[in-house]
Amino acid sequence: MKILIVGSGGREHAIAASLKKSPKTEKLYCAPGNAGIGELCELVPIKAMEFDALADFAEENGIDLTVVGMDDPLVGGIVDVFEGRGLKVFGPRKNAAILEGSKAFSKELMKKYNIPTAGYETVHDPAEAYRILETAKYPLVLKADGLALGKGVLICNTKEEAEAGVKEIMEDKKFGDAGNTMVIEEFLTGREVSVLSFTDGRTIRIMSSAQDHKRAKDGDQGLNTGGMGTFSPSPFYTEEVDRFCREHIYQATVDAMRAEGRPFTGVIFFGLMLTEEGPKVLEYNCRFGDPEAQVVLPRMKTDLCEVFLACVEGRLDRLELEFEDNAAVCVVLASDGYPLSYEKGKEIKGLSAFEGKDDYFCFHAGTKRGENGEFLTNGGRVLGITAKGEDLLTARRKAYEAAEWVEFSNKYMRHDIGKALEEASPS
Ligand code: AMP
Ligand code: GLY
Repeated sequence: MKILIVGSGGREHAIAASLKKSPKTEKLYCAPGNAGIGELCELVPIKAMEFDALADFAEENGIDLTVVGMDDPLVGGIVDVFEGRGLKVFGPRKNAAILEGSKAFSKELMKKYNIPTAGYETVHDPAEAYRILETAKYPLVLKADGLALGKGVLICNTKEEAEAGVKEIMEDKKFGDAGNTMVIEEFLTGREVSVLSFTDGRTIRIMSSAQDHKRAKDGDQGLNTGGMGTFSPSPFYTEEVDRFCREHIYQATVDAMRAEGRPFTGVIFFGLMLTEEGPKVLEYNCRFGDPEAQVVLPRMKTDLCEVFLACVEGRLDRLELEFEDNAAVCVVLASDGYPLSYEKGKEIKGLSAFEGKDDYFCFHAGTKRGENGEFLTNGGRVLGITAKGEDLLTARRKAYEAAEWVEFSNKYMRHDIGKALEEASPS
């Protein structure tokens, strides 16, 4: 099969690496991709939001399946454009991608179908929001309704902070139209776990769990980022938690979407908080996590291409997922200053150290080729260094060892990815 991947980050590199292993794959393309992805795929210089140009390319090049990795094109309706032209595509339609695209929608869905989540109110104008803040309990959480690059969530400890937050989101429109509507949510405490799943709209298959580290600095300090590192599986995702989520969350979400006339085909990412009252949904995403994909996909034994086809063709009930009985850790190498301002175009050295090593992966997030074919940094998150090991601590040691193989002048990483694993004595 000829497969086109849409996206350009570490997640898309991990998808490409898994698809490359499939006997079904004849040729891979990626639009627009990055320098590392270019080692596995033919790069297509079309941006992810140029739906018609991408569909033209798929038609002209006899692409058998397009896989959309990123949220923006999914929420924007790329799948509808492809399907409208009779092209096979993996991902939710616009009316289902709203599960990520609108927090007000997803909260309402959870309430209607009794899916456990934090208590909340949805507001459409700032005056209403300020009124609620008067009698609210603190801390509380403010969420811009729409996509905001993962930055539209504010945790406010006091009424003053919350008032400033409402002003930012709803009046100053810091996140643009994403802030026309806002969710005011109860603050939950506990451990966070990311669970990715595949669904064909009826059947759902759960992948191995993972945990992200969203803050920029060690000790969960600093600003929120797209994710600075991950591990999989999460030892906190116990059998008991799994049983609860299967009973109350996963299938319930798929069934709810179908009942609403919005059947969801693709990946549903469940952002869970394991609270004292049990697991609750913090958020849904309509695609693989980044960098969750970089630790989950390398551990998946099932042919990814088969899974994508089973979802698109509505026969996921006949396929079970299998994962290796091991662990993986991903450490993101970023440009110093990320997520605010940082320099790009620095030469990256040492990448050849990964060649021929089966349990080490160097997933490219923001890289490009220089004039002489050298690899250059080209983003905030530059590389995701993943290692597999027989257990989490081994994988962690190996990932940090491999993180030293690569050099660029403004390289920055967190040193405590998976540190909780050392201290944890999970029940
Ligand atoms: P989201 O984009 O909804 O995942 O929010 C980003 C991050 O904010 C989450 O990963 C949590 O760490 C935090 N967060 C979101 N909602 C809540 C909540 N209700 N209580 C506590 N923390 C939250
Ligand atoms: N790593 C979190 C996300 O992909 O949204």
